[in-house]
Amino acid sequence: MYDRFGDMLAMLLGDSAVHIGMFVPHGKHQRVADLVALADHAQDRQTDHLIDTIGLAPDGHLLDIGCGTGDPAVRLARRSGGRVTGVTVSKRHLDRCVEAARTAGLADRVTFAYGNAMELAYGDGSFDAAWAIDCFPHLADRAAALREAYRVLRPGGYFLFTDFALRGSPSEEQVDAYTQLWCSPAPTSFATLLSEVGPAGFEVTEIRNMSSNAALTAELMCTLYKDRRAEIEERFGAEATAHTDPLMDPFRTFCRDHVDYYLTLVRKPETAG
Ligand SMILES: C[S@@+](CC[C@H](N)C(=O)[O-])C[C@H]1O[C@@H](n2cnc3c(N)ncnc32)[C@H](O)[C@@H]1O
Repeated sequence: MYDRFGDMLAMLLGDSAVHIGMFVPHGKHQRVADLVALADHAQDRQTDHLIDTIGLAPDGHLLDIGCGTGDPAVRLARRSGGRVTGVTVSKRHLDRCVEAARTAGLADRVTFAYGNAMELAYGDGSFDAAWAIDCFPHLADRAAALREAYRVLRPGGYFLFTDFALRGSPSEEQVDAYTQLWCSPAPTSFATLLSEVGPAGFEVTEIRNMSSNAALTAELMCTLYKDRRAEIEERFGAEATAHTDPLMDPFRTFCRDHVDYYLTLVRKPETAG
């Protein structure tokens, strides 16, 4: 999906990251030129919030699971002084990631590799911290990814992940629009998500409900899709817009009425072997 439609997503979300933007709390007021700039600004604010939450030390090394375009990894390395290794299954994004680190002059501290969240190619205890920003919604087996994150962390290391959770009873049409547009299985309940954290070995440290940010991001994406539809059709073809047009509205109402969005911070116990 990111290989084929990463550029289209950037037209709807901004291109400073590929995650939910932070609109609430809105923080310091900043004027922006248009809705794309607003989306970019909200994504940067969310990245900064996650950087503050994970608190990587200057001598720390974080694994970025599902690293997108590499911009959050670069931002984290710049602000913390630490090292970041990013993995993704999008070969197309990988080139962009490497370029982002090079352009920032951080290629010695920020590196990227092709890698699957459910089967990480790193040894036990390799990282001081890890995060997975909006990667878990895509996974067929989240429990396996939680076990892998636990395995590659050192004892005492923190893991931050964000995920969607299902609220209420959506229609089949709404679920179908979400699974097609987001190339993801339908979200589980938050209780199911939490029930997978303990068996992986983690202690829960903090949970933040950021659901209004997911709903607002979806509204913004749908507005930008309508505004930029002609441009999208020109770049991606009439087949792409014909496929996407009927999905947008049920996707928007699904996100507004049936999707919660949580930030979860967990820790591998100090005593873990
Ligand atoms: C919504 S994007 C988030 C990107 C980035 N974390 C950010 O915050 O901008 C989801 C990311 O997860 C990656 N992804 C999806 N399935 C994956 C898997 N099985 N293993 C590793 N990465 C995966 C995608 O390639 C994409 O980079």
